[in-house]
Amino acid sequence: MDASAEPLSVVTGDGVSTFSPDQLRAMRDEFQRFLLEYQFGLREVETKLGILRDEFLLMHEYNPIEHVSSRVKTADSIVDKLGRKGIEPTFDAIRAGITDIAGIRVTTSFTKDAYRLFDLLTAQDDIAVREVKDYIAEPKRNGYQSLHVIVEVPVFLSSGRVDVAVEVQFRTIAMDFWASLEHKIYYKYAGVVPDGLLAELKEAADSAALLDARMERLHSQLHGPRQPSIRAV
Ligand code: GTP
Ligand code: MG
Repeated sequence: MDASAEPLSVVTGDGVSTFSPDQLRAMRDEFQRFLLEYQFGLREVETKLGILRDEFLLMHEYNPIEHVSSRVKTADSIVDKLGRKGIEPTFDAIRAGITDIAGIRVTTSFTKDAYRLFDLLTAQDDIAVREVKDYIAEPKRNGYQSLHVIVEVPVFLSSGRVDVAVEVQFRTIAMDFWASLEHKIYYKYAGVVPDGLLAELKEAADSAALLDARMERLHSQLHGPRQPSIRAV
């Protein structure tokens, strides 16, 4: 007998549920379609950022964006987060409760470019702002700095419009350098980082912030008081 044709029994909160192979395939397809919406949401926001960058380059010969990276959360990590946050495994509950399924990181040279890009993106009238966390103005206790926003962007499918949540993080190269190292250290020590290392990380974050301020001062000396302003475009 073909093992793949056997029904699968799963223990759920309500007891044991049994699914036929066709039902399992349908569930997989539905989940893939659900994730695809987030892929499209990312594309929309990436296009917006690309347009801002290209326009700014053309008008001012200045590129406010160093780097953009994006990812859709894996199914595994969505499931982990459902467990951690006690969210029901339904599409509606996941949409409402997990807002970083689509994530974009925008790295800039200077802090003010991070704010400018944030302003320009969030001012667009098809973008709705769901939540802002300004860890640049108020760094986390460990020293983490970044400007986070959860936006909703409309995506038009053959079945109609869906508003997709996308988390956008804006940070400078120095902040990004710090965050990626801190992330690796946090993983290596499984979240229990020795105090000495935590103190060093905090010092490194302060140095990164000082470097950012210094580079920004040098940059404005180089370009004079009339800085290109994205707002003036
Ligand atoms: P999550 O449940 O992790 O999504 O956190 P949250 O919902 O409280 O949101 P928050 O805006 O604080 O963090 C969102 C994301 O920012 C995280 O998933 C990380 O990518 C990044 N982040 C936040 N805090 C830190 C930090 O201390 N260190 C590093 N390296 N990254 C961080
Ligand atoms: Mg989050």
